[in-house]
Amino acid sequence: MEKIRVGIIGQGRSGRKIHVEALKRAKSKERFEIAAITDLIEERCKETKEEFPGCVVYKDYKEMLQDKSLELIVNASFSEQHVPISVEALEAGFHVVSEKPLAAKVSEVDKVLKKAEETGKVFAVFQEARFEPTFLKVLEICRSGVLGRIVMARFTRNNCARRWDWQTLFEKNGGALLNTGSHPLDQALVLFGEGMPDRIYASMDRASSFGTAEDHVKLVFSKKGHPTIDLEVSSCAPYSPPRFQVYGEFGGITAQPGSVEWKYYKPSEAPDRHLITTPLPGRAYCSEKLDFFENSWHDNGSRGADYMGEQFYINLYDVIRNNAELFIPLDDVRRQIAIIEECHKQNPKDWN
Ligand SMILES: NC(=O)c1ccc[n+]([C@@H]2O[C@H](COP(=O)([O-])OP(=O)(O)OC[C@H]3O[C@@H](n4cnc5c(N)ncnc54)[C@H](O)[C@@H]3O)[C@@H](O)[C@H]2O)c1
Repeated sequence: MEKIRVGIIGQGRSGRKIHVEALKRAKSKERFEIAAITDLIEERCKETKEEFPGCVVYKDYKEMLQDKSLELIVNASFSEQHVPISVEALEAGFHVVSEKPLAAKVSEVDKVLKKAEETGKVFAVFQEARFEPTFLKVLEICRSGVLGRIVMARFTRNNCARRWDWQTLFEKNGGALLNTGSHPLDQALVLFGEGMPDRIYASMDRASSFGTAEDHVKLVFSKKGHPTIDLEVSSCAPYSPPRFQVYGEFGGITAQPGSVEWKYYKPSEAPDRHLITTPLPGRAYCSEKLDFFENSWHDNGSRGADYMGEQFYINLYDVIRNNAELFIPLDDVRRQIAIIEECHKQNPKDWN
């Protein structure tokens, strides 16, 4: 297997703790080599350099983009630099992975997609939650048909915690929706199906974070023939609903990371019923006994961010070397940002 030499911009929580860790895993190691790193804070490169002595440390990402021995640039810099640096890296002739969120506006997304098309280089967005084992199990159950038509799906990423880092700054493309919400929204769009929703409602607020951006979001969107999506990211919720809930025609799902439960009845085995348009005899309410089938699934929790990252990189290798399709289509990323842009439009930042 001809390895792809990677240069990583940023050695923070993502660049070091997610990308380096994902690229260290067995299947990534067969396919990729961490060949260069850079960070504004020189000290942050030390750990990776010690672990990979052959890896070159650049003082500046622009210097890294001169290194033509690299094939792939991973852009794990601050969120507002995802588009400009990715465009520069594509222009310099590299394949590029950008961290999420790609951008705050569709016009920005289009700049980078246009550049990828012009240069013929692979551009991918690191939405590794697509590979979240619990989410994939939820998807499998929905697609099996046992729940019938999926009417609604709820995605929740809540906590009760304060934040004071740059991710709380609107001007740095921070905030609960762009930062955290981009993961469940990406997952939700898979369940929603193709196309843009025709109704979008968002309510955003800032409660306990120290920055300019929202830390509470309620987003609901729908379209005829598609499940309604109800998504919540809030830092004001010590008592949170589960991470995933699915409402189906014949049953539903409740799921927390590593644990999925679902139950449904079989319409073919349900008592025979027909519509009665006159008052029910004996002033009765509709009442019947349905036999529910109950199931559960548990994961041992060992498949975290580095595992999901490894899955992402296995697919990326196939895209670069064998012309495979991106597991996370760029159209989905564009739709995600279009919805987020609409949410921001509906919520000028005049917090209480
Ligand atoms: N996919 C995920 O699950 C996930 C998790 C964490 C962060 N992220 C994303 O990764 C990005 C980075 O976030 P983080 O949490 O790692 O932040 P961080 O503050 O921990 O690290 C960012 C690092 O990038 C460096 N940097 C910024 N601009 C640079 C530049 N121009 N050249 C070189 N280095 C530069 C900074 O010095 C810093 O060390 C964000 O966009 C964030 O949304 C994604």
